[in-house]
Amino acid sequence: MEQEIIFERLLQIITRYYRDRDSGRFVEYHDPGDLQRLLDLDGGRGTEDWEQLFSWVEKYLAHAVKTSHPSYLNRMWAGANLPSVIGEMIAAITNTSACTYETAPVSTLMEKYMLRTMLDLVDFKNGTGQMTTGSSNANMIAMMAARNLINPEIKQNGLFRQPELFGFVNADAHYSMDRAANIIGLGTTHLIKVPVDDHGRMSLPALEQRLTEIVEAGGVPFFVGATAGTTVRGAYDQLQPLLALRERYNFWLHVDGAWGGAVVFSDTLRRQYLPHLEQADSFTLDFHKMLGTALMCNVLLFNDRPSILKEVCSAGDESYIFRNGTDGDVRDLGSLSLQCGRRVDSLKWFLDWKFYGQTGMAKRIEHYLDLCRYAEEQVQQAEELEMVVPRESFNICFRYRPPADIPVESFNRDLRERMHRQGASLVGTGFVNGELTLRLLITNTNVDKPEINNFFQGVINTGRELLSEKRS
Ligand SMILES: Cc1ncc(COP(=O)(O)O)c(C=O)c1O
Repeated sequence: MEQEIIFERLLQIITRYYRDRDSGRFVEYHDPGDLQRLLDLDGGRGTEDWEQLFSWVEKYLAHAVKTSHPSYLNRMWAGANLPSVIGEMIAAITNTSACTYETAPVSTLMEKYMLRTMLDLVDFKNGTGQMTTGSSNANMIAMMAARNLINPEIKQNGLFRQPELFGFVNADAHYSMDRAANIIGLGTTHLIKVPVDDHGRMSLPALEQRLTEIVEAGGVPFFVGATAGTTVRGAYDQLQPLLALRERYNFWLHVDGAWGGAVVFSDTLRRQYLPHLEQADSFTLDFHKMLGTALMCNVLLFNDRPSILKEVCSAGDESYIFRNGTDGDVRDLGSLSLQCGRRVDSLKWFLDWKFYGQTGMAKRIEHYLDLCRYAEEQVQQAEELEMVVPRESFNICFRYRPPADIPVESFNRDLRERMHRQGASLVGTGFVNGELTLRLLITNTNVDKPEINNFFQGVINTGRELLSEKRS
């Protein structure tokens, strides 16, 4: 097949998929065994046949979850902004690694531009940053930075024969914090989970008590990870009291804004949810979540420590690849990274930023919050539904309320499962104070009030259906 025909064909397929991405069902559900048979993954190898290749593409799309669909309410991302999708395609067709200026000149400058823009926006003075593979990785690099600040020799000597280090996070913090504690050699038992208050924020008396106990026992509190928007509940840890504790205990204060950090684009919401952020030591934010940039797209920012990434991340002989000048200017961003090959994520963010601007992003986030308020009201007004806990920000933790003789947890699991299998909608779950909750997240520009009404009506109808089956 001629190259032009291949691209024409591809464009037709993409255009058709994109046109239909928010109609029909969001998925034709199959159990893994059935899907395996339908896909026939063992078929046709090494044929160099473009027709066959496109039939694989068609199969993929036929069974793919339409994440732009308004019934896809499951995750912190949904679909993707078209400018960043274009960026992703250009990154794929030019296929390079954003680790050196030589191989990725434009992306290097775009990433630097983007970092400067974000440092200014967050108001980190004399800072630095990096695009990482996501907030999991960013949380780990922040923890490494905190560890190395306590003792720069840890990079060479490891944690052997050191005083014991302890990190502290909200008990509802993302699991990537535990994984970071594992990877950096801290050990998960040295990551203290601080109980939360009624709002799902780290309890400050509990944190202070644990800090005191650790210090009295000879341990060193080196890191506190605040969460700006906890994964299930959407709680924002309070930064001002944490900053006051930092004065006394000298730990590193990192803010995990993977989800709720998006409020920095709106002056009003930033004042409401993230006051004092500019005094934190580091901050991470996923563009690929609420802001809608194509997966993966993240930034990790450091305050007032311009060379921290070099100090923390670089190791080993990199002379074969990096050509950084002697003037201190970092030309090759890979020299500050834990990876060698780096995807060109900067182009996606750059195109979104140029297309929507700060105002566009702010409007989007503010609108999502209005919709979350609306969704909470719908739950409160529906007799069969209830909030598991009041809404803190963007997360709506609710459930169907079956009669008292029916176990609420298994009922809600069945309800969610049925809606998924029917291709009606997919909503998240999680636990709040040990209780199962359905977690509605609105991060889809195709979702507005009618879609929210439709979703809740679907939940209510499915609940009634399940109840009548149980009674018959
Ligand atoms: C609060 C929080 N932090 C970190 C992460 C991990 O982000 P990523 O998927 O970019 O690694 C998540 C993901 O859901 C999250 O909710």
